[in-house]
Amino acid sequence: MNQNVISYPKEGIAKAVQKFETPFFIYEEARLRANCRNLKAAFVKYFPDFQPMFAVKANNNPVVLQIIKEEGFGFDCSSESECWIAKKLGANGTYTGNYTPSKTLKFAKDCGMLLNLDDISNVAMLAEIGVPETISFRINPGIGKGGMESVITAGPDAKFGVPFEKAGAAYQLAKDAGVRHFGIHMMTGSNVLDEEYFGKTVEKLLEIVAMVKNQSGVEIEFMNIGGGFGVPYRPEEKSLDLEKVAKLIKETFDKQCAKLGIKAPRLVAEPGRFIAADMGFLIGKVVVIKEGYKKFIGIDAASNDMPRPSIYGAYHHVSVLGKDDGKKEIVSVVGSICENNDQFAKDRELPICEIGDTLVIHNCGGHAFAMGHHYNGKLLHAEYLLQENGELRMIRRAETFEDLYKTTEV
Ligand SMILES: Cc1ncc(COP(=O)(O)O)c(C=O)c1O
Repeated sequence: MNQNVISYPKEGIAKAVQKFETPFFIYEEARLRANCRNLKAAFVKYFPDFQPMFAVKANNNPVVLQIIKEEGFGFDCSSESECWIAKKLGANGTYTGNYTPSKTLKFAKDCGMLLNLDDISNVAMLAEIGVPETISFRINPGIGKGGMESVITAGPDAKFGVPFEKAGAAYQLAKDAGVRHFGIHMMTGSNVLDEEYFGKTVEKLLEIVAMVKNQSGVEIEFMNIGGGFGVPYRPEEKSLDLEKVAKLIKETFDKQCAKLGIKAPRLVAEPGRFIAADMGFLIGKVVVIKEGYKKFIGIDAASNDMPRPSIYGAYHHVSVLGKDDGKKEIVSVVGSICENNDQFAKDRELPICEIGDTLVIHNCGGHAFAMGHHYNGKLLHAEYLLQENGELRMIRRAETFEDLYKTTEV
C-alpha cells in the first residue's frame, strides 16, 4: 500500500532545488493524505468505529499535523511539548510516556489528553493530579518485534509497559483510585512488515483483557494496538498489506472474544512511520568528493539532520536527481560531522556523482527531522511542503546561529 521506495516526486524536488538552498526536507502532501486515507480505510472496513491516532514523535511539524488531523486522526503524544502542540491544534489525543513524573501527567491531563500509563506507580500520582474518568495502561505482552533490534519495544528486555502478569493488579488499583473507564495499549515494536505478527499480538492482548476482567472485574472498553506498521526502506522489501492486517485482527477479535467471553473493545491504533515516512525526503547537494581508501561523496546534509543511519545503522534509499539511469559505482555518502557514523549510505552502488549533484534520501518524513540534533553546532534545516496543487510552501524555516544560542547569555 505504500509506494515503492524508489519512487519520488522528481519534478517537485527539482523545482525546490532551484528555488531553495540545500539541505532541506520536502514533504509530499498528496502522499501524506493518501497514507492517512489508506490506513483508515483498511481498518474501518472491519472496525467501523476505528479511531486512528498519529504518533507525533514521528513528525511534529504543525502543518503536517494539521493535515493529519484534517484526515480524521487524533494524536498520540510522548512529551509535554507534544501535548502542547496537540492542544494548540485543537486535537484530541493520548499521552503515552514512560518513566513519567506526576508533573508531566498533570500537564498532559490539563491539555485534555487521555493518560496511557506505563507503570503501576503512576496510579498513585492520579490522586495528586485529579483522578481522570478514563485511563489506559500500556501493557508489555511479553513479546516484541521490530525492523531491527533497537526498535523492539516489548518483551523481557524492553523498558516499556506494565508486565502483563501484573495487569490485573494495575487495573484493580486504578479502579480503587476511582477511575471508571479503561483501555488497554501496547506498542511492541516498530517497522514490522510481517502481517501475521499483528494477529499474534492482538490475540495475546485479548487474553490479557479477559485476565484483567477475571482478576479485577474491569471491562476494557478500547484497545490501542500502537503503531509499528512497517514501510519498505529497501527496494527489494514489500509493502505491508494493511488490509490483510486489519482482516487478521478482526478474525482474531471474533475468535478470541467468543472463546474468552469478552465484549470486543473499540479498536485504536497510533501509527507514525506508516503515515509519514515515505512522504518525506532529505535533499542535499554534493559538496566534496574524496578518493580516500574508499570513494566518499560528501553532501551538505549530515547525520544530525536525520540520525537513523548513524544511530541504528538504518538503511535509507538514496537517489541522484536526474541520474536514475546513469553509470554506477560503489561509494559511501557522508556528512560533515566529526563522527565516523555520519554516513547516510555505506558502500552503496550509486550513479556517478559530481559536485553540485542533488541527492535525495528517501523515507525521511517520519522519525527523521524529529530526531535531528545540534551536535557539532549544526543547525537544523528548513522543511517544505509540496502541496497537492504543486506549489511549494515553507513550513519550517532553517535555524540561524541566533536560534542555536537564544537560550544562553550570548
Ligand atoms: C508509544 C508509541 N506509539 C506509536 C509509535 C509509532 O510507531 P511507528 O512509527 O512504528 O508506527 C511509537 C514509536 O516509537 C511509540 O513509541
